[in-house]
Amino acid sequence: MLLDGKAYSQKLKEELKKEVEALTNETGITPGLAIVCTNYAEASKIYVKNKLKAAKYCNIFASLIEVSLDISENDLIALIEKLNKDEKYHGIIVQLPLPPHINEQRIINAIDEKKDVDGFGICNKGKLFCGMPTINSATPQGIIKLLEEYNIEIASKHAVVVGRSNIVGKPMALMLLNKNATVTICHSKTKNLKSITSKADILVVAIGKANFITKDMVKKHAVVIDVGTNKVGNKLCGDVDFKKVAKKCSYITPVPGGVGPLTVVSLLENTVIAYKKILNIE
Ligand SMILES: NC(=O)c1ccc[n+]([C@@H]2O[C@H](COP(=O)([O-])OP(=O)(O)OC[C@H]3O[C@@H](n4cnc5c(N)ncnc54)[C@H](OP(=O)(O)O)[C@@H]3O)[C@@H](O)[C@H]2O)c1
Repeated sequence: MLLDGKAYSQKLKEELKKEVEALTNETGITPGLAIVCTNYAEASKIYVKNKLKAAKYCNIFASLIEVSLDISENDLIALIEKLNKDEKYHGIIVQLPLPPHINEQRIINAIDEKKDVDGFGICNKGKLFCGMPTINSATPQGIIKLLEEYNIEIASKHAVVVGRSNIVGKPMALMLLNKNATVTICHSKTKNLKSITSKADILVVAIGKANFITKDMVKKHAVVIDVGTNKVGNKLCGDVDFKKVAKKCSYITPVPGGVGPLTVVSLLENTVIAYKKILNIE
């Protein structure tokens, strides 16, 4: 069965739009999101465009702040400090990846914890690590919500996460652990990957390699979440060999139309959560 992230994200956007309208009427203040972008990666433009479009739909005020590719680390930090103080913005994100001369984590850590709506800063990550309430990274947060929407049980399941990036793999593993799954994390140095993935009740793949996970690597009736977004020719495809794996598993996310749209909505939901915290709204 298809886990339809696109349809679910539309439902969430409608709900968020209504909530934003009510909040804006109540306070006279519109939730604001600042998106800082260097356009270092070509794909960033598409991701940013999707975020701006969805924000507009939900009546969230979003600004794109484009900076030059050769901006210095200190100038970028100075910009973020200015945005931290700017009351128009309740959320700030820096579109990754950044050019190699910039230390990404140093930039992310400069974002005020309360406005870190990507949840990538060490304060929010630390809280996730401790199982405390926090602003969760958008992609794994969207995945958890999708599993819950389809009443897929997480507790006591064996979840295998392939990929250990700071923005997807690691927070995904922690969120699944916090939901009482038994979690295994795999990466490029994992030996006998197939022997591990084929034991997963829930398999989350975030590696960035087109069609890498094949049918023989997946347990019958598993739940398969494909985070990967890979360009093959003009087409977008995931990390999972969708056509063949779909016949074997119980649930699967398509690419496109699976995890991607939920990432965008989760980011906007985080912006509204940050707005409510900053304005002391219960
Ligand atoms: N749909 C969305 O909303 C969304 C959001 C974010 C990312 N993505 C996509 O998700 C994918 C992953 O993104 P990311 O930022 O997490 O990537 P990343 O930072 O490049 O991390 C990739 C991870 O995959 C692991 N890996 C690479 N080759 C492997 C292999 N052969 N076997 C096992 N593990 C392997 C790497 O292991 P090592 O640590 O050992 O190098 C690393 O941990 C990309 O396609 C990205 O575009 C999609």
